[in-house]
Amino acid sequence: MGESPAIQTENLTKIYAGSGRLTHFAAFRKIPGGLIAPPRPPVHALEGLDLRVERGEIFGFLGPNGAGKTTMIRLLLDLIRPTRGKAAVLGLDAQRDAVALHRRVGFLPSELSLWRNQRADRILRYVASVRGDVPTLLAEANRLAERLALDTTRKVRTYSSGNRRKLGLVIAMMHKPELLILDEPSSGLDPLMQQTFYQLLREARAEGRTVFLSSHILSEVQTICDRVGILRDGILRAVESVEALTHVEFRRIRIRAREEIPAGCLENVAGVSEVRLQGRTAELQLHGDFDPLLRALSNFYIEDVRQHDPSLEEIFLAYYGDGSAVEQ
Ligand SMILES: Nc1ncnc2c1ncn2[C@@H]1O[C@H](COP(=O)(O)OP(=O)(O)OP(=O)(O)O)[C@@H](O)[C@H]1O
Ligand SMILES: [Mg+2]
Repeated sequence: MGESPAIQTENLTKIYAGSGRLTHFAAFRKIPGGLIAPPRPPVHALEGLDLRVERGEIFGFLGPNGAGKTTMIRLLLDLIRPTRGKAAVLGLDAQRDAVALHRRVGFLPSELSLWRNQRADRILRYVASVRGDVPTLLAEANRLAERLALDTTRKVRTYSSGNRRKLGLVIAMMHKPELLILDEPSSGLDPLMQQTFYQLLREARAEGRTVFLSSHILSEVQTICDRVGILRDGILRAVESVEALTHVEFRRIRIRAREEIPAGCLENVAGVSEVRLQGRTAELQLHGDFDPLLRALSNFYIEDVRQHDPSLEEIFLAYYGDGSAVEQ
């Protein structure tokens, strides 16, 4: 066994029904005996997702806020039900076999609620007792806590948000699950702990286990993932190896000259695109080397050059132009 993919979805779709949840008071209509919230249109959170995640890879699910990442993860874990389509996890049906799956999957939710008045080690002991082999599980939990520099003798309410996150990670990983599903795992971890955490994920991969994580931080995905899926507005726009994605990397450049930069002088310069001229400043995208750009501006007195790494959105737009969907 084991040749089934870690995750496979087919036309997975989630439309949240329009609701009358509270928005703002002014929008409410007064009726005898109460108030009615204005109707809300349904939300197409996920549309026709076809995705295959192989065993043993670290897969990053990348997308801006509201893209549908958490929705997808909840569907995989049967915490919500799909409108259409289906998902298989470790070869089992996400919906029908949810109970069996929960034993084999480790999950870190984006917002973790824990017993605030319990000590972390008590919580770990409780989780271990539910899962089975208590001594083995606790040994692994302690090892993980140590690696993450987490003091488990304290009550959860005394934890910083980073420490709570660490406890969540220990709970997700202590049974060495075949598949780790982590929703924005490193948010709240300091840079040093992030490195430790990445190392733990690499070790899981080395043992043949699979990691599926969501993120909106490109650098994180670049550092740790083998492949990445780009989700936007509920639609999977691309699935790429991280190598291919970083290959298209470019810089955003902002240049300020002493005199006005005339239109046209940055046309047809190798590697330069998306030029926006405004008086003495030029903003542009640069692929590759600086030299052609510097030569084109050699007659100008340049006061300032700044560059910043492109946002996910910019990379995405550069990569896929009009943003049309790309075949997997
Ligand atoms: N229970 C719900 N009812 C109605 N709409 C919802 C519900 N949960 C999520 N949504 C909507 O579905 C869309 C996708 O939300 P989701 O939480 O999956 O995004 P996300 O990619 O996880 O975003 P973030 O990066 O902010 O965590 C959003 O437009 C969100 O407002
Ligand atoms: Mg989310």
